[in-house]
Amino acid sequence: ASVVQRLWRGHVSTGMLSPRLQRAMKNYVNANKHNVSYQGHRRAAQSAKELLCQMKAQAKLRTVDGSEQPFSSLGWARLVPALPLRHLYKQQEKRSFKTCAVVTSAGAILHSRLGREIDAHDAVLRFNAAPTTGYERDVGKKTTIRIINSQILTDPRHHFSTSSIYKNVTLVAWDPAPYNVNLHKWYASPDYNLFGPYVEHRKLHPDQAFYILHPSYLWQLWDMIQANTQETIQPNPPSSGFIGILLMMALCEQVHVYEYIPSMRQTALCHYHERYHDDACTLGAYHPLLFEKNLIQRINVGPLGDLKSKGRVTLPGFSTVQC
Ligand code: C5P
Repeated sequence: ASVVQRLWRGHVSTGMLSPRLQRAMKNYVNANKHNVSYQGHRRAAQSAKELLCQMKAQAKLRTVDGSEQPFSSLGWARLVPALPLRHLYKQQEKRSFKTCAVVTSAGAILHSRLGREIDAHDAVLRFNAAPTTGYERDVGKKTTIRIINSQILTDPRHHFSTSSIYKNVTLVAWDPAPYNVNLHKWYASPDYNLFGPYVEHRKLHPDQAFYILHPSYLWQLWDMIQANTQETIQPNPPSSGFIGILLMMALCEQVHVYEYIPSMRQTALCHYHERYHDDACTLGAYHPLLFEKNLIQRINVGPLGDLKSKGRVTLPGFSTVQC
């Protein structure tokens, strides 16, 4: 069976990747850039319900709120948005988001004609620099939240402060701290220095909701992936895709995820908006993508047919899961 067919069934392992990807993965494990030392256990197959309950308990949405050093001394309690991210739906006078769509940037979404279906959701999450203009038929045009990694804020090629992609949406940025979540060390040496651009943007656009995810949230998600995987996973943060899925499960009653687990349109095309081919984008090199996807497959409540034809996974929001 192909890698994708195995993903559809939830049977994945490193051994099914190409030698090149296996080597890349091993190199990241050996480099251990973020000083990960995992002390927990690795559970064999939990049921979908158990997995969901573990996620609900462990993936409590958390952003940098200025209550901890060094951010408290820097006055961040007054800098961050007054509305907590977990109550974002109040911004739209809603009591929750009923239906949400997570739209990954995978090349496989090209020619899907999913745009209208995606736009019918209460809230739509997109990633990094993925555009809608020119791709509306396949990816839709509505954007409620955009998750951005710290490179978007710092690499001048993204024109973060002027591009319309980052306007009129809620922004959620992330950058990995060391695994032990020493915020002083993080502030002194982030992967890419997002703090300056964040402060500047907050001052210029105080009415735009813009959050930085707390690094403890990222590593809790990582712990959960490792805790439910027998193999050693890459000691790097989960992909923006996984972060976005868990974030929407905290905000919405039901979540549809598009082209995270690839449909039959699966392709080596990395992003729908770029002519760059690399199957690491779909299967992972830096990020533990293969294992993230396996976890999401295990909690999918939608039919296999949706996965094959639309690349669509259906997930219950945490508020609807009784544990
Ligand atoms: O590349 P980027 O991180 O901006 O893409 C957003 C997310 O979409 C990724 O973090 C990953 O979870 C997902 N993705 C994917 N397959 C691809 C490209 C992106 O699963 N080919």
